[in-house]
Amino acid sequence: MDWGMKNRFSRLFNQKSGKTVLFAVDHGYFMGPTTGLEDLGAAVKPLLPYVDALMLTRGALRSYIPPQADIPIILRVSGGTSILNKELLREGVTVSMEDAIRLNASAIAFSIMVGADFERDTLLAFTRVINEAERYGIPMLAVTAVGKGLNRDARYLSLATRIAAELGARMVKTYYCEDFERVVNTCPVPVVIAGGKKISEKDALQLAYNAIQAGAVGVDMGRNIFQSEDPVAMIQAVRAIVHENIPVDEAYEMFLNLKAR
Ligand code: R5P
Repeated sequence: MDWGMKNRFSRLFNQKSGKTVLFAVDHGYFMGPTTGLEDLGAAVKPLLPYVDALMLTRGALRSYIPPQADIPIILRVSGGTSILNKELLREGVTVSMEDAIRLNASAIAFSIMVGADFERDTLLAFTRVINEAERYGIPMLAVTAVGKGLNRDARYLSLATRIAAELGARMVKTYYCEDFERVVNTCPVPVVIAGGKKISEKDALQLAYNAIQAGAVGVDMGRNIFQSEDPVAMIQAVRAIVHENIPVDEAYEMFLNLKAR
C-alpha cells in the first residue's frame, strides 16, 4: 500500500480501537426516498459526531452534506437498477474515478452479486473499477449483496467475501450469519457487517456485538440506525459495542437512558 492508499484507508478507522462504525445512507440509489432518509441531510447531521465514515452516493453527498463536514466519505460507485427491477443488483459503474477524486472520497463501494446469472458482469465491472482506483490510491469496499434464492450462510458469504478480497477489495461488507468466524477467518481483508432490515434495537445491538466477537472490524449499518426510535441514542450504543467492547445489555441500557433524556 502506498502512502495515499494507507492514509485514506486509515481514516476509516478509529485510531484508538482500530475498529470502525460506518454509517450507510446510500439506500436511495435503488430504493428512492427510504423511510428515515426523506431528508437525508437532517437525518445524518446529528449522527456525524458518532460515526467514523459516511457511505452514500454522489448525489446525496452533493445535495445533503455540507462540504465543511469533517467526515471521511465512502462513495457508492455502483448502481443502475431499482427495487422495481427483477434483476435487482445487476449493477454497473455509476461514478467515474475522476469524480470520486473530485468529491474527495476516502474509499469507494461497489455491490457484487456472486451466484447470480449475471455474476460475471458485476465481478468484471468491479475489478475494472478496482484497477482504476488502485492507480489513484483509493480503497475499494466490496458490498457482497445477496439476491433472492441465495443463502445468507457462512458457506455462501465466505465464498462471496473471499472472491471480493481476491479480486482486490481492501475491505468487505457482508451480512452476519451463524459461524461468522469462518467468514472472517477466510477473508484476508477486514470485514464489516451490514445491518439489514430494521429489527428491534436490542436485536440490532446483539447483531453488532456478535459480529465484533467473531472478528469483524466494525459495522456498516443503515436502517437499524436511521429507522431507530432514537437514531442518536442508537448510534452511541452501537459505537460503545464496536469501540469499547461493552456487553449487549449494557449497550441497550445506554440506548434506553439516552432515549429517555
Ligand atoms: C446495500 O447494497 C447498500 O449498501 C445498503 O445501503 C446497505 O447495505 C445498508 O445498510 P443496512 O442494510 O444496514 O440498511
